[in-house]
Amino acid sequence: MHPAIAIDGPAASGKSTVAKLIADRLGYTFINTGAMYRAVTWYMLEQGIDPADTDAVLAALPSVPLSFGKDGSRSIVLCNGSPLTEELTRQEVNDHVSTIAAIPEVRSLLVNRQRDYNRQEPVVMEGRDIGTVVFPDTPFKYFVTASEEVRAARRAAEGLTDSIAERDRKDSSRATAPLAQAQDALLVDTSDMSIDQVVNFITDNIQQKLSAR
Ligand code: DC
Repeated sequence: MHPAIAIDGPAASGKSTVAKLIADRLGYTFINTGAMYRAVTWYMLEQGIDPADTDAVLAALPSVPLSFGKDGSRSIVLCNGSPLTEELTRQEVNDHVSTIAAIPEVRSLLVNRQRDYNRQEPVVMEGRDIGTVVFPDTPFKYFVTASEEVRAARRAAEGLTDSIAERDRKDSSRATAPLAQAQDALLVDTSDMSIDQVVNFITDNIQQKLSAR
């Protein structure tokens, strides 16, 4: 099994954009794990289930009709066979995803699916706990961050009103698999870097490690 490339970091750090570009450079598949947590959140809301009602979420979880596939070289989430797209970035999903992502049973279900992807092909996987929990043994771990001001500006430029600081606070303080930099992850502060610079920096580091193996 090829070791996964793990890219973690807070919301709006730019990690999705760079992870996708790194995957393209390497010819790997890009896996967006946030979309998986967002899909579970969207589904619960669709069902009229309060994300804070953990018992109700757990009761619905075994029959959630979501599946996790690929569209070309990137992961997608399907509900009853149809790909989910704009549903996943709705404001109500932003508002509740951290509550759903704090439920250990939700996490173990999704972590298993995330590991399945890497059994099939080499992946660049982006999330919050990829280096700490999903692939703790991979030598390729990157923690991508940016100052809070820069992240807020990036979100605003995308027209989003997401309360980033609040989501990060919840994601960092939960008991199970909190957002955290793995001890052996390389910290990449992108506040003063262009997307190209970040992609080059991480891809060069991966290539160096690969050629030293
Ligand atoms: O990457 P994103 O902003 O789309 O992620 C949405 C939420 O999903 C994030 O606030 C926390 C949760 N998440 C998680 O708990 N673990 C992951 N590996 C990825 C996302």
